[in-house]
Amino acid sequence: MNFALKTLDPARLISEKTDALLVLLTKDFKPGKDALSVLVARVLKAGDLSPKAGQMLDIYRPQGLACARLLLLHVGEGAATEVRKAVSAAFGLLKPSKPKGVTLLFLNQPAAQALRVAVTTLADASYAYTATKTKAEPRSLEKVDVVVPDESALRTDFERAAAAIAGIELAKEWGNRPANYATPTHLAGVAQALAELPKIKCDVLGPKEVAKLGMGAFQAVAQGSDEPLRFIVLRYNGASKSTAPVVLVGKGITFDSGGISIKPAAEMDEMKFDMCGAASVLGVFRALAELQPGINVVGLIPACENLPSGRSVKPGDVVTSMGGQTIEILNTDAEGRLVLCDALTYAERFKPQAVVDIATLTGACVIALGAVRSGMFTANQALSAALVQAGESSQDLCWSMPLDDDYAEGLKTSFADVANVGGRPGGAITAAKFLQRFTDKFPWAHLDIAGTAWKSGAAKGATGRPVGLLVDYLMALDTRGKLA
Ligand code: BES
Ligand code: MN
Ligand code: ZN
Repeated sequence: MNFALKTLDPARLISEKTDALLVLLTKDFKPGKDALSVLVARVLKAGDLSPKAGQMLDIYRPQGLACARLLLLHVGEGAATEVRKAVSAAFGLLKPSKPKGVTLLFLNQPAAQALRVAVTTLADASYAYTATKTKAEPRSLEKVDVVVPDESALRTDFERAAAAIAGIELAKEWGNRPANYATPTHLAGVAQALAELPKIKCDVLGPKEVAKLGMGAFQAVAQGSDEPLRFIVLRYNGASKSTAPVVLVGKGITFDSGGISIKPAAEMDEMKFDMCGAASVLGVFRALAELQPGINVVGLIPACENLPSGRSVKPGDVVTSMGGQTIEILNTDAEGRLVLCDALTYAERFKPQAVVDIATLTGACVIALGAVRSGMFTANQALSAALVQAGESSQDLCWSMPLDDDYAEGLKTSFADVANVGGRPGGAITAAKFLQRFTDKFPWAHLDIAGTAWKSGAAKGATGRPVGLLVDYLMALDTRGKLA
């Protein structure tokens, strides 16, 4: 999709040829003398558009305007949540007419956040999955023009939003593909294709290299499947070699059946989404390629399937992680932490300024936070503040969760250094406590995206979260130079 930002010229707007001219109004709208604002003022005065977010007036072939359709859209006070609600309702109305071009017109200068939410919502609402359908309707929308009173003040935010959208869409696409079309090898192919873009490099390790590294925990998860594992290493080099990188680690379980501790059949199909952490890392690299910030970023993706077979790891088996800690695998369905712990140890070699892992890690996190905020776990205050702030600015929200040592009690076992499960209470936190054991060498944060990475039900599909949050987090490092 093609995005463009322009400065408002009321005279030119009348002749703007577009399938739909979407006019976003806030409560503090003050009409000018141009024909469009005169019309809007009349509509408001007549009470034909109530000043509430999501209220619309749809006008077909408006006289004196070149657009095919004019949609007056109220966004209330113009807050991010109001803009999201209104734009998604508006596109719902437009969608059946399959618009190729839409112009978003802000009569008042929007806040940067409102602008970003508007284009991100439009992209989300117009996305169409087609990869495995023979009669798929592709996305109709090709071009989004955004018109504001002063484009110069919003240019940076707009470009960032457009880049983030490209990343979000890559993450959605790979999240949505079924597990037989999104194997570890396929994901490695995506990463290798990203390495064609400027400043990006990629290495892919297979079973032999991973065995040589001693990643016993990762191997244990992969061993039940005939599909070979992949360990993907992406690098974005936008700063000098001496600049410590941020490492992003994405859980890449391309299908999670639970293994021998097999999951119930209902909704097991949704475990194709268990690589959404990995997909978000791929998406971030797509955005970095576009934005070219002066930072270094490493992406690590341990990718494999978790399946039951005669070769599967069994409950009670003890494995040795890359860092040397032994782990008793009491539940083979707690596999995410096993692939991540070896990737975290691998991250040490980059002497990172920070490591952030992203994982659809626990059903418990879905119970705790639902689909609104991702769970964020860190003992580092600066990292916590930076991630919360990035969540706010991108409106890809997260919530800080506790990491008290007492939560690790349940992970104790008589048969290894640590067990991979610690009982049901506080399950998202015990999972984070398990990971924390592998993070002594760097500031670390963990994002549990089990509730936010995809939607269930009729609108089932990947969301592309938390690409928006991660892009804002990394771009803030670019201007600050280094983690506070
Ligand atoms: N991928 C799942 C977590 C998950 C479950 C995400 C449902 C979204 C919806 C993870 O590998 C898992 O199975 N976790 C277990 C951990 C338990 C065995 C300690 C869980 O949450 O049930
Ligand atoms: Mn599992
Ligand atoms: Zn899983």
